[in-house]
Amino acid sequence: MQKINLFDTTLRDGEQSPGVNLNLQEKLEIAKQLERLGIDVIEAGFPASSKGDFQSVKEIASTVKDSSVTGLARSVTQDIDIAWEALKDSAEPRLHVFIATSPIHLEHKLKKTPEQVLETAVEMVKYAAKKFPIVQWSAEDACRSELPFLAQIVEAVIDAGAKVVNIPDTVGYTTPAHYGSVFQYLKENVSNIDKVSLSAHCHDDLGLAVANSLAAIEAGATQIEGTINGIGERAGNAALEEVALALNIRKDFYQAESGLVLPEIKRTSDLISKLTGMTIAPNKAIVGKNAFAHESGIHQDGVLKNPLTYEIISPELVGVKQNPIVLGKHSGRHAFRTRLVELGFVLEDEQANVLFEKFKDLADKKKDITDDDLFALVVHKQVNH
Ligand code: KIV
Ligand code: ZN
Repeated sequence: MQKINLFDTTLRDGEQSPGVNLNLQEKLEIAKQLERLGIDVIEAGFPASSKGDFQSVKEIASTVKDSSVTGLARSVTQDIDIAWEALKDSAEPRLHVFIATSPIHLEHKLKKTPEQVLETAVEMVKYAAKKFPIVQWSAEDACRSELPFLAQIVEAVIDAGAKVVNIPDTVGYTTPAHYGSVFQYLKENVSNIDKVSLSAHCHDDLGLAVANSLAAIEAGATQIEGTINGIGERAGNAALEEVALALNIRKDFYQAESGLVLPEIKRTSDLISKLTGMTIAPNKAIVGKNAFAHESGIHQDGVLKNPLTYEIISPELVGVKQNPIVLGKHSGRHAFRTRLVELGFVLEDEQANVLFEKFKDLADKKKDITDDDLFALVVHKQVNH
């Protein structure tokens, strides 16, 4: 089974979500929970971006032991030096340095030629590798870059000492088949590619970040970057809990696994949602309130007979503790009577049938029927009997 490393950037790209601003204590709490979750690499921040980011990266680097800690740097020596000061106390100092490679970024943002970008990338990787045992290099906007240039610069940074090469889909432009073909191209056109671990970093502008990440795994990526709950710049990053579950549930297909401690997922998701203030959509996969809830009578009947009829993931696997049966107007008799028994009411058939009709009347007027509603129904019926 191929091990896929999960690189979590909740504290860097995730914190770039508009409106999110975490303080040092909050970042530390999240980092410790990411460590418990079994994340391989935690990107704790961008040390040169602010004093606060520097401080939190430094604190996390000296506190977290079971995950590797990294920080982001632009391709300038000052950023690399500041990142070193923040990360030097970590168990295995690791730098994440990037430069853009697409024509649109070169022309309008960097105002550099491809040759100048290649030279800077090589110089900065060499500079960083003198300090850091592990240097990860990222080609910003890789998916809108010209492939021959991408291959040329990747080959050069590997020679310069990069240990991980990341191919970000910075603007969420790629699709699964296209992203896979970019990795394939690099494998066929970069002579030293076997010396590095290839990484995928996807944004969700087209809602494809997780699908693209999985396509990258099929094409040889061994590291996936993303955030918990998929938070991040604009439409966000790939949701790591979704990637991990796809690998777990479909290991028959991927023949790969992450080291995530799956039962810690819900706790981690709740913590990050609370501290960032970013609420989770009820229908969000894995961690949404409705992700394991069944409302239709046909589904409820099936799940009560055997959960596998309509559940591919058991809620306990990801740390969710909730009653999967939601009583509402689509529920059938089976779910209704099962819940009554759970509440301690064992009724005769006739009595249950009368109550079921009353329950249906109520459900037509009210979205969700709570246990209190059921109590009221039964007690009212018994009083008026
Ligand atoms: O999306 C992106 O390109 C990034 C890089 C800094 C890796 O976040
Ligand atoms: Zn990003």
